Amino acid sequence: MEPIYFDNAATTALDPSVLEEMMPYLSGSFANANSAHQKGREAKVAVEKARDTIADLIGADPSEIVFTSGGTESDNAIVQGVYACGHKKGKKKIISSPLEHHAVLHTIECTKLQGGEPLYLTPDSTGMITAEQVSESIDEQTSLVALMHVNNEIGTVLPVQEIAMACHEQGVAFFTDSVQSIGKLAVNVQDSEIDFLSMSAHKIYGPKGIGFMYIRQNTTWMPWLHGGSQERRRRGGTLNVPGIVGMAKALEIAVENMVSFQKHSAGLRSHLLNKLQTALPNQFQINGSETNGVPHILNLSFFNKDGRGVDGEMLLLNLDIENICVSNGSACTSGAVEPSHVLLGIGLPPEKATSSIRISFGKHNTTQEVDYFIEKLTLILNRMTAHA
Ligand SMILES: Cc1ncc(COP(=O)(O)O)c(C=O)c1O
Repeated sequence: MEPIYFDNAATTALDPSVLEEMMPYLSGSFANANSAHQKGREAKVAVEKARDTIADLIGADPSEIVFTSGGTESDNAIVQGVYACGHKKGKKKIISSPLEHHAVLHTIECTKLQGGEPLYLTPDSTGMITAEQVSESIDEQTSLVALMHVNNEIGTVLPVQEIAMACHEQGVAFFTDSVQSIGKLAVNVQDSEIDFLSMSAHKIYGPKGIGFMYIRQNTTWMPWLHGGSQERRRRGGTLNVPGIVGMAKALEIAVENMVSFQKHSAGLRSHLLNKLQTALPNQFQINGSETNGVPHILNLSFFNKDGRGVDGEMLLLNLDIENICVSNGSACTSGAVEPSHVLLGIGLPPEKATSSIRISFGKHNTTQEVDYFIEKLTLILNRMTAHA
């Protein structure tokens, strides 16, 4: 039996039609898109066509799209590039939240080495941060507000448009990590007034190792990765032509099927929660927002009958033995399992944070898979709690 894959927020399988679109650029059309000869021009045409497609799908101008190696690079480049410019004007403060992806959080922490004084807003117990909180925390020291659109561990959706407006009222730029939202929720940089955005193709059935950043025209930012003159001198490095072509195709497919995917994952989610409520009442809690969350990301903590949290790592491994792939937000550092910074950040005690798993649905998941999951989960939890 093929494993049941409920880890689509970690990565997705390449869509066959994306691969098909990429194939010519993995073989015959292999040239460097910056070469002046005919083969180079052929590759360049494909890159610019992909750039136009992507820009169109998010309401940007093609000149505002900069190709990178993925979400991590985009996050690093945006934070570092804005901080460096602000620092020259004596601005030391980036406002963010403790729930950001480590690609953003660790980069912001690095600004401290250059005199940065970041400020982390306190989310509520569902992971929400409001535009009012942002407004109140901005001062003349602030160069950037960095808040993700959809949280990768708990699925909470932040009101990015309201936050962007709050930033602009006080003349501060707004960056949102959209790695988990593009292709799943409508993202339009014009309507939402977003200044910087990061994206990664492998979350939407595109290839790994390719992404982009959106950089609004006339915003203050400086390049972070130096090298050749590619991408209008904003990101050096030979362009990943097949990756770029594949990313545009993947985004096209995702946007086209966005509404049906939302319905599909909402159906799977409610099916799972109904079954769980019957099978294991009072033995689980949902981490995140039930009203302001994406349906395809579901974070659950499990307890035994006396309310003590189960070992989430053990639960994950037992599910794996039953051919079910889920994830948890815990990081294994030096052999010890650390609770997820996101779950701690929304106020979960470490014991509840380490008793969680994340289920993230993709377009290929079915209700039969959810039924199988509930059946195995019930057996595993009964076994684990009997021995507790
Ligand atoms: C919210 C978020 N930002 C950034 C990243 C990093 O993206 P990449 O894997 O393309 O480096 C991820 C990947 O899990 C993510 O979920």
